[in-house]
Amino acid sequence: LTHSTKFDLPPNPPTYLPSYLSENTKGLKFPKGFRYGVASAATQVEGAAKEDGKGPSVWDYGTHVYPDLYLGAPDVTDDFYHRYVNDFARLKAMGVNTFSLSLSWTRIYPLGSGQVNEAGLAFYDKVIDEAIKNDIQPIVTLFHWDTPLALSAQYGSFMSMNITDDFNQYAETAFRRYGDRVKVWITFNEPRVFCSQTAGNPYNLNFPSGINATTAPYHCTHNLLVAHGKAVKTYRHLVKEGTIKAGQIAFKGDDNKPTPWSNQPEDIEASNRHADFFIGIFAKPVYIDGDYPTTCKETLGSFLPELTPEEQKLIKGSADFYAQDLYRINTAKAAPNGIKACVGNVTDPNWPACQDGRVEYSSGAPGGWGYGQQADPRSNWLVNSWFAIREQLKYLSKTYPTKGGLYISEFGWAEAFENQRTEQYQIVSDYGRETYYRDYLNEFLLSIHQDGVDLRGVFAWSLYDNFEWGLGLTQKFGLQYVNFTDPALPRHFKRSFYAMRDIMQHHLQ
Ligand code: NOJ
Repeated sequence: LTHSTKFDLPPNPPTYLPSYLSENTKGLKFPKGFRYGVASAATQVEGAAKEDGKGPSVWDYGTHVYPDLYLGAPDVTDDFYHRYVNDFARLKAMGVNTFSLSLSWTRIYPLGSGQVNEAGLAFYDKVIDEAIKNDIQPIVTLFHWDTPLALSAQYGSFMSMNITDDFNQYAETAFRRYGDRVKVWITFNEPRVFCSQTAGNPYNLNFPSGINATTAPYHCTHNLLVAHGKAVKTYRHLVKEGTIKAGQIAFKGDDNKPTPWSNQPEDIEASNRHADFFIGIFAKPVYIDGDYPTTCKETLGSFLPELTPEEQKLIKGSADFYAQDLYRINTAKAAPNGIKACVGNVTDPNWPACQDGRVEYSSGAPGGWGYGQQADPRSNWLVNSWFAIREQLKYLSKTYPTKGGLYISEFGWAEAFENQRTEQYQIVSDYGRETYYRDYLNEFLLSIHQDGVDLRGVFAWSLYDNFEWGLGLTQKFGLQYVNFTDPALPRHFKRSFYAMRDIMQHHLQ
């Protein structure tokens, strides 16, 4: 294995630099102290799945026991575990000042609770120190979907309120250990995505069989909100008693407020309801008043467990800043049958569903990741998407205002067909990604300067191609290419990497 710190940076600045800079943001700067970074997650980049006492997560288990459901396993992936020194050196070359990573719960508690694993704790000590040594601030996420298998088997992980105490213990261990160096914490990554993966998927290993799939997402939501609330309370207590230094904590939300399909009132209403429901189900309790949005209550009725007054008190105000993953903007169109509350459940006849089986709330861009809809200047999707970013940021900061400001905690571009192209092509010609980043950074600058949005940081997904969950290594989001067929796992900067570096050189103070 090679651990070289040599780069493939070109000796001269790229000659194509001018095309990166946009006329309408010329001379505009991101504010002082702006956090510019890349994001990652333990399961997706670390590898070393069985090393140094790490316990199995549901992903280690599921990808091997049901290999037909996945396009690979996270056993090795980018081998960040052994190559982080080199990886940080490469990130330094990109000029980022922030690295958003997640801790693997089962490296620290192999069984989710009980015995703590010192080797796991020591690994993240080294990672955090190495980041800081490179002038890169670590932002640490406690849970990025890798539920300890033991807790899943014991009581169905987030289906049980029991997990809130295990999570709190794990969180406290991490706060005490790293709180001297880590100033920004995230409890949960995209809880809505995590909890909604349960519905109708009998093999989903976060939720073993026997659980009612119809209501599972909402029990998960409830328990996860309480787990978040408890961990934040613990964090603030440790800060208050002087055990760790003051910092900030929040969770990472996802989804977007879709652009109305037309300016007809019913399409505008569909857009509002979507945002209320899918962003608000976590954000409203945390940022506003401790309780779920009316849209969720009306839609879900008894499927949504109530938050007790004590739980509401715990959850309300349990975040210092607002973080949102924002990959693209969808479009909302009213359901043809006038139903206002279809959330796409197909297994329960009592569930309010759209007549045509379509999920009203996510009637969005076709095709999932990639396919160019995020930034293709020729398509209407773009006209909606691209200009909608500023609307999006305005909406988020107005709806969920915080003292700590707004972060776009992930944004990025996947090329679905990249894996079929030559290595050389992937490295030098990821024009789609380059355009995407240039356009998004542009809009972010305009949000700050023209709309007065308090945007404090943006993190690109991802530092390099990595394990994209069920899609394995086939879906590539990286600013760096990794040759997974070579056991040395060489990394190569893509064209988009240089674009990001050069754009930010011009716009950072
Ligand atoms: C958001 C998730 O947090 C991350 O894990 C995932 O890889 C990206 N979306 C892209 O799908």
